[in-house]
Amino acid sequence: MSKITREQIRRHEEAEALLWGSDKKLTHDQVAFCLEHWDPRALAGKQVAQNEAYFTPLPLALDMGKYIGGDGRRVVDIGAGIGRLAYAVLCANWWDMRQVRVTAVELNPEYVAVGRRLLPEVTWVQGDMYDLTLWQSLPRFDEAIGNPPFARVLTGCDTDWIGYRGPAGLMAAAIGLRVAQLGITLVLPQTQTPFRYSGAPSGSNVYTDNHTGYLKRFLAGRPALEWHHSSLDTAQPGYKSGWRGAAPLVEVVTLRDQAAALLPLAAEPGIPRPLCRLSAASL
Ligand SMILES: C[S@@+](CC[C@H](N)C(=O)[O-])C[C@H]1O[C@@H](n2cnc3c(N)ncnc32)[C@H](O)[C@@H]1O
Repeated sequence: MSKITREQIRRHEEAEALLWGSDKKLTHDQVAFCLEHWDPRALAGKQVAQNEAYFTPLPLALDMGKYIGGDGRRVVDIGAGIGRLAYAVLCANWWDMRQVRVTAVELNPEYVAVGRRLLPEVTWVQGDMYDLTLWQSLPRFDEAIGNPPFARVLTGCDTDWIGYRGPAGLMAAAIGLRVAQLGITLVLPQTQTPFRYSGAPSGSNVYTDNHTGYLKRFLAGRPALEWHHSSLDTAQPGYKSGWRGAAPLVEVVTLRDQAAALLPLAAEPGIPRPLCRLSAASL
């Protein structure tokens, strides 16, 4: 993991001062500054490496958010960090916030505290995404989004309900398919996807049959799974340079499965889609 630089520490401290220096509502600029510069590597301990807290580069997060929301959808950000993806979903729906309701699930209480301060319009839930009782306390979601940990599954919870055992990225994908009826859009390392799109030479066949064993097992139980790669080439410098502490080669994928066994979560009343009207006075 690359070390945090002095300049990055200075900016992190500036973000901390904005966050906790007063309890006034933060301006849009201040929220964006903190999302960009608040850096988990500045905290004590080894929690970044342990929980794979490599926040999504903001330009990539903002482009991912464009795929999500509308029609009053309920969206859950799984492994939300301080909320870069949740923020991206809100930004994509800025023209009418009733078009989306966002919940963020995150294990680390320090990230949740920062997220709550930055994005009070998001429902923040501190807890373990592998915990079935956590999901049972929440309503049903329409869509899930995430940049989860990819490798290690660190949990004391029983994970049988997920219906898949494998690396953390695919476990998060399986969770998304159980809690969100329209599926999950997430960042996955290329070893956990059936294609190599990002960084591939143009004209090459991006689909591959050369799957890892854990991906084969993930696919085997889901004959109706639709697996879409986005048009975002995450190898381009504008995205790639934004990772801190790691530089994974990843894809942005959307998984949908009409046959997925959704958890029986409580449905909440939908929000009618508002109609844009011009008032008589403005004509
Ligand atoms: C790769 S980071 C991404 C954070 C955020 N989604 C973003 O895009 O900036 C993964 C996040 O998942 C969190 N995490 C790890 N294990 C978790 C678990 N079991 N339940 C919930 N969150 C978890 C980490 O603390 C970290 O914030």
